[in-house]
Amino acid sequence: MPECIVRAISNQKGGVGKTTICQNLGAGLAKQGKKVLLIDFDVQANLTQSMGCQMPDELPFTVSDVMRKIIEDEEFDPMSGIIDKSGGLALLPSNIQLSGIENSLVHVMNRERILKTYIDKVRSSYDTILIDCMPSLGMLTINALTAADRVIIPIQAHFLSVKGLELLLRTVSKVKKQLNPDLNIEGIVLNMLDRRSNFTRDIIQLIREHFGSNLKVFQTEIPMSVRAIEAGAEGKSIFEHDPNGKTAQAFDALIREVTKNERQRKENKDIQLR
Ligand SMILES: Nc1ncnc2c1ncn2[C@@H]1O[C@H](COP(=O)(O)OP(=O)(O)OP(=O)(O)O)[C@@H](O)[C@H]1O
Ligand SMILES: [Mg+2]
Repeated sequence: MPECIVRAISNQKGGVGKTTICQNLGAGLAKQGKKVLLIDFDVQANLTQSMGCQMPDELPFTVSDVMRKIIEDEEFDPMSGIIDKSGGLALLPSNIQLSGIENSLVHVMNRERILKTYIDKVRSSYDTILIDCMPSLGMLTINALTAADRVIIPIQAHFLSVKGLELLLRTVSKVKKQLNPDLNIEGIVLNMLDRRSNFTRDIIQLIREHFGSNLKVFQTEIPMSVRAIEAGAEGKSIFEHDPNGKTAQAFDALIREVTKNERQRKENKDIQLR
């Protein structure tokens, strides 16, 4: 059975590209023949909408129903609610009801492990599961980090993004110590870059110097691109919307780096991802 890698795409800072990277990384891996499940784990349901479900609140079964079933210890078919999309992608959608789940988790036994309990039931059916986290470090994000093997952190080249990163890294480290020793940071992805600006170039250099010695900062930089915005708005991946453009090429390069990591891990199980 292929080993499934569960990745959380996380950053408590809003609007840095978590959903965009989750969708396009998933689409690119599926393009290579991998079986990919995307989990929308955000009450905003942006991933659900970007994948073409325009009315998330009308969906009969979403990630919040899955969470509720686990919390209440009710039997259910773990594949229910998963929507098969074209190109080998599957989506477990979200909607606003997830906010009620987050509030109710306060009183729940084993509240950090609810998503993990679910993922353990479906992971054998997929090569990779990508969790699109919400912009917070609350209990839902803790659930995602507890369920994940790796974290991918999208950031923008802004001073405030760099400051917020320290807090995220501390949270990941706490989750690793207390809840999920298997958790590793796969890498930081620089997104929405405009290399023409001197300031952006300085911040990129600072990020690579400051974090690069302890963490992987992916070489691939995703450019600021109207095509990325258009694709999400049309419910398509960048590979469907503009397959030959610069942004699709950047995502292809990012996917090559990600799969190279996977190969290295397979070749030498002892490699600890930096
Ligand atoms: N490389 C890019 N170039 C231009 N626009 C981008 C790029 N990546 C993402 N965007 C746009 O920026 C906005 C925020 O992106 P996205 O929704 O992926 O961020 P997010 O981190 O998931 O946000 P949130 O924290 O609200 O969940 C969206 O309108 C998206 O289309
Ligand atoms: Mg998002």
